[in-house]
Amino acid sequence: MNAELKPDPSRENLDAFWMPFTANRQFKANPRLLARAEGMYYWTADGRQVLDGVAGLWCVNAGHGRREISAAVAGQLDTMEFAPTFQMGHPIAFELANRLASLAPPGLDRIFFTNSGSESVDTALKIAIAYHRARGAGQRTRFIGREKGYHGVGFGGISVGGMVNNRKIYGSSMLPGVDHLPHTLDLGHNAFSRGLPHWGMHLANDLERLIALHDASTIAAVIVEPISGSAGVVLPPVGYLKRLREICDKHDILLIFDEVITGFGRIGKAFASQVFDVTPDIMTTAKGLTNGSIPMGAVFSQRKIYDAMMQGPENAIELFHGYTYSAHPAACAAALATLDIYRNEGLLTRAATLSASWEDAVHSLRGLAHVIDIRNFGLIGAVELEPRAGKPGARGYDVFVKCFERGVMVRQTGDVIAMSPPLIIEPAQIAHLVETLAAVIRDTG
Ligand SMILES: Cc1ncc(COP(=O)(O)O)c(C=O)c1O
Repeated sequence: MNAELKPDPSRENLDAFWMPFTANRQFKANPRLLARAEGMYYWTADGRQVLDGVAGLWCVNAGHGRREISAAVAGQLDTMEFAPTFQMGHPIAFELANRLASLAPPGLDRIFFTNSGSESVDTALKIAIAYHRARGAGQRTRFIGREKGYHGVGFGGISVGGMVNNRKIYGSSMLPGVDHLPHTLDLGHNAFSRGLPHWGMHLANDLERLIALHDASTIAAVIVEPISGSAGVVLPPVGYLKRLREICDKHDILLIFDEVITGFGRIGKAFASQVFDVTPDIMTTAKGLTNGSIPMGAVFSQRKIYDAMMQGPENAIELFHGYTYSAHPAACAAALATLDIYRNEGLLTRAATLSASWEDAVHSLRGLAHVIDIRNFGLIGAVELEPRAGKPGARGYDVFVKCFERGVMVRQTGDVIAMSPPLIIEPAQIAHLVETLAAVIRDTG
């Protein structure tokens, strides 16, 4: 049932696929092709087993090859492969929204479905503007994002995001009026912190400065990732997110948490906002929602936001927004089966059980040559390597490739190696992951 790939595909076979976020020429000269997956492992096209240290791309939280999900999707496709959700509905879309609402932080019980994290972010930004307008504050259109933030690749997401390579060539086409908080990564104060860093809560106060500059009456929302993954794992200092919440409340600004990677158990509860005890007004999710099996995202809004929009004539559409595949039946079936697995196997809290041994394991890499920082929280870990002179990212890339050659898949962003394994990982596999990375770092100049 799995793809039959030639062990050594010719270069021409690889040409047509313009690969995303990939050095296409480098990859196609030396491809890494995955052909099959089960549990904690991938198998390459030429039959090698690879331990998955990143849950695919931070999404396969329940591990690979979950037959409950594929059976649910197949059953749904047989019963009804598609149904529109514009002025129509189908039962499992409502069932899924109710299930998600019951898992959500307090009050975040109105769910809008999308097909990806990027769409979730753009949806959340639109909801924020529409909400303010509905309550007579239509001048609140400005957003505050954060340096190093990653909010997907839509124009809204790259505007509030803060990763320079994702922004610089599209600069003149981005949303107007967006400003950015400083990021919270500071090796000088926080290198090798275990868990959340203790220095840096005051960085949230920069929001007051931006509010003084732009005036609160122009600002719709602040959007941050509780923990950012794509920028190389950036953690919030202790108290930082609470401080953002306080400032937003003071100025009637919405707080959006982008939980596309932290959602669905990554740090020990269903959502990071529950771990940090800070409830946003809007929360974006995707990835782990369907265990990566079918593209789907969900935006959770506070009921007050939904209620504010439910005005005007009853026959008027309240929010002019939606996707053909919002709440696609196959994705809903996949998500419901995924939520069953999370519940039945206790996976949404498993990261909390494993986090202490995970922290010890990743911090055992301290002291290896070129390791300049180690960061961890829940089942997230990152090792930052000193860049080679004049060649940023080269060392990180070499480590990533060698790990793969030795049967371990990690994720590389510049010179940061990130790990976010499926939540089913066993202690022996944690040891194997970290020992392989240690050996590779030792062998990489
Ligand atoms: C925090 C965050 N937001 C949004 C996205 C974009 O999600 P997608 O790639 O599904 O559009 C990502 C992807 O990694 C993410 O980490």
